[in-house]
Amino acid sequence: MKNTSVLWLLFLISLLSCSTNQARLTVSPSSSQVFEGDFLSLSCEEDDSSAGWTLRRNTSKQQRTQCGDGWGKLAGSSCNISYIDPLDSGVYWCESREGPISNMVNLTVTGGSVILQSPVLPVMEGDDVTLLCKTKTTPSNLPAAFYKDGSLIRKQPTGHMTIQHVSRSDEGLYKCDISGHGESPSSWITVTGRPTTTSSLFTSTTPSPSPALLADLVLRVFFYLVVFTPYFISTLLVVSLYQHRAKGNDELISKVTATPNQAGQRSAKDLDDIVAVTTEHHF
Ligand SMILES: *[C@@H]1O[C@H](CO)[C@@H](O)[C@H](O)[C@H]1NC(C)=O
Ligand SMILES: *[C@@H]1O[C@H](CO)[C@@H](O)[C@H](O)[C@H]1NC(C)=O
Ligand SMILES: *[C@@H]1O[C@H](CO)[C@@H](O)[C@H](O)[C@H]1NC(C)=O
Repeated sequence: MKNTSVLWLLFLISLLSCSTNQARLTVSPSSSQVFEGDFLSLSCEEDDSSAGWTLRRNTSKQQRTQCGDGWGKLAGSSCNISYIDPLDSGVYWCESREGPISNMVNLTVTGGSVILQSPVLPVMEGDDVTLLCKTKTTPSNLPAAFYKDGSLIRKQPTGHMTIQHVSRSDEGLYKCDISGHGESPSSWITVTGRPTTTSSLFTSTTPSPSPALLADLVLRVFFYLVVFTPYFISTLLVVSLYQHRAKGNDELISKVTATPNQAGQRSAKDLDDIVAVTTEHHF
């Protein structure tokens, strides 16, 4: 019985590790803003490539459409958009049959001439973040002004700006401006906390476990306990019941075989019962 419990525990653990399997949506080139006409490749990266994720998006025009369904071209686990249009602006994510399973990425496609290249993925607290202000036409970097939540934060002659050791207070809506060329759209920069040591157990499968993810995990554990504990107990009951019945049957069968004449006088119905019981026993 001890062995059975260990097996069940292993089964539970494997189920849990499967369900914490997360995909990661990456965008190449890695920027949350792109120029109209650019080439873009999005991919769902996961540990288990057989799981079958689909890339979906919400735009202002359509919700939950998947790659290849009127937009993009599926190429293995990536989705390529060869000529991106302002109407492709929206939120993108990877999804499995059970629902969303990746980070979400906000993409802004502009018909204008300035973009702010900011990280597509949430930034980890303490990391350095570089923002680049780019024009469509000038290959070299031009002096740019950077804004956060509407106020000017820095003017940079080099056109790029590094925020060192980002903290939660750096989270916000950023944009930039290049004199003579114009202003970029705004992009939200998210800062996430560093995973604590207690959650380091999950960092291999979930690169940045958010409180929501951990809450989800706790819910899953609870769910599996609620679902599988009664199942486990009833399985034990059924098994012990069979063992009891099996003993009874063995006695019955030995009686039957010991007195074949009596058995021959039994009604067909009784025989059927014995056959049914013995087949059950052999299961
Ligand atoms: C996409 O749109 C659907 C339907 O409007 C909505 O339920 C869902 O929350 C949206 N998803 C995201 C990631 O914005
Ligand atoms: C899609 O994009 C990736 C990455 O840029 C590239 O390696 C691949 O060849 C592209 N596939 C197609 C079918 O365009
Ligand atoms: C996407 O953009 C909207 C509006 O700017 C913002 O509220 C949301 O938090 C962003 N989502 C992500 C994942 O950056």
